[in-house]
Amino acid sequence: MTMQIDLGVNVDHVATLRQARGERYPDPVAAALVAERHGADSITMHLREDCRHIQPDDVERMQASTQTRVNLEMAVTDEMIAFAVALRPADVCLVPERREELTTEGGLDVAGQKARIVDAVLALSDAGIRVSLFIDPDKRQIDAAKAVAAPVVELHTGAFAHGGVAGDPQELTRITNAAEHAASVGLRVHAGHGLHYHNVHPIAAIHQIVELNIGHSIIARSVFDGMGASVAEMKRLMVQARMVAGH
Ligand code: PXP
Repeated sequence: MTMQIDLGVNVDHVATLRQARGERYPDPVAAALVAERHGADSITMHLREDCRHIQPDDVERMQASTQTRVNLEMAVTDEMIAFAVALRPADVCLVPERREELTTEGGLDVAGQKARIVDAVLALSDAGIRVSLFIDPDKRQIDAAKAVAAPVVELHTGAFAHGGVAGDPQELTRITNAAEHAASVGLRVHAGHGLHYHNVHPIAAIHQIVELNIGHSIIARSVFDGMGASVAEMKRLMVQARMVAGH
């Protein structure tokens, strides 16, 4: 059991705001440096194929400027894999980009495309990158992640988050069971998507989950409270959930 729970701050939506006007500000790298000073354990960014928010240059500047880990979320394409292998961020999280790679819940369909994913995991691992697969909290997908030799899974909390302000209790049970199963087969367990200040507690209390990746809610709160205070408050809630749960 571990008290430790890490917060990966996703800065995509700082770039969304910048792209809305095509300006040079606000800079997601500047946001990341503030986040690091206020409790972020890693910085997450999603380089989409349409570059709708984060640009390749943002990832390069992030890698050169941050003190913690860069966690690059990306699709399983040859171009993205070549980009990541050249840049060598600490972590890559493989996410679905196209409709056919999605499960019904929204995670990456690892079980349905094992051959393709095993190649990606190998290429990234050979470059010294720790690979995570963003999957539904589903035993079949977890077993597939293990089979393709990914060391980490990130459990998709979207369905939980969409079930009311405090989250869906049935989905919470699914995530708890999935986290237990993933840890029991030796996977490191992360979680994320749709987590905010009012639903993070029960997810952070699941002791097998050692990292949460949170973006939209933190960036949204930053408009009112500033980036530093918003990151610090999220981290405080996560650590508190851990302490209340007694692990
Ligand atoms: N984890 C993954 C794999 C994601 O794709 C995203 C969204 O980019 C997040 C976490 C963060 O989600 P949110 O912005 O809803 O906190």
